[in-house]
Amino acid sequence: MSSTVLEIFDIQAAIGGSQILRGVTFTVPAKSVFCLMGRNGVGKTSTLKAITGLLPISSGKMEIYGKGLTKLASEDRARLGIGYVPQGREIFPQMTVEENLLIGAVAQGVKPASVSKQLDRIYSLFPILKEFLPRKGGMLSGGQQQQLAIGRALLTEPKLLILDEPTEGIQPNIIDQIGHAIRLLREEDGMSILLVEQYLDFCREFGDSFSILERGRVTAAGQMEALTDTIIKKYLTV
Ligand SMILES: Nc1ncnc2c1ncn2[C@@H]1O[C@H](COP(=O)(O)OP(=O)(O)OP(=O)(O)O)[C@@H](O)[C@H]1O
Ligand SMILES: [Mg+2]
Repeated sequence: MSSTVLEIFDIQAAIGGSQILRGVTFTVPAKSVFCLMGRNGVGKTSTLKAITGLLPISSGKMEIYGKGLTKLASEDRARLGIGYVPQGREIFPQMTVEENLLIGAVAQGVKPASVSKQLDRIYSLFPILKEFLPRKGGMLSGGQQQQLAIGRALLTEPKLLILDEPTEGIQPNIIDQIGHAIRLLREEDGMSILLVEQYLDFCREFGDSFSILERGRVTAAGQMEALTDTIIKKYLTV
């Protein structure tokens, strides 16, 4: 069993003629929480879109468990175990919580037995979702929608869960619940987590290692203990 889940090597990508990713390299170790950090507009979301297949790369290499991703369609990457919670959550406001949860699993043909097992896990992490199953997604608070978006991704049984700024605009008590869910998924389910986050204390509390992006390149990286005030001042504070 490899100790690396995801390997990103020197990926480059452009949007509308401008170079957005200029050689991004990092590794997500197995069963750990890896934080991809950086100020606004440095290319964090674009990196995630490259990994999930929503943004084509012009060069570089991406592998999950040693299997090349670059030539695969988004759905096939999801089938290999990549679960993605996009920035801004993107739940369906007119659909119920239950429909929102099930939609990804249905699209991917997840077996009913494993859907029911995953649902139990999701309700144990986020009990409010069970209570609100018949409600329209749009009626939930921002934090509850974030929990719903994470639940939807978990239903596809990911090996690697990718979260894009899950704490953005969310009330503190739900931020805590999300942090603890991340920790439990790593410790109890052995999941690997790629967390894009600008909330420094959240990364420090729940992250194991980090890389920082600046203008489409990694400028600093290490174990979370190595995230010093000097690095923070230089690359993270506004
Ligand atoms: N669809 C697009 N068209 C043009 N430029 C884009 C597009 N999407 C992103 N960009 C540009 O690419 C750069 C990287 O954007 P990206 O969304 O990856 O940054 P980010 O690090 O996720 O930022 P944030 O912290 O604000 O979410 C930015 O300069 C942004 O303006
Ligand atoms: Mg972003």
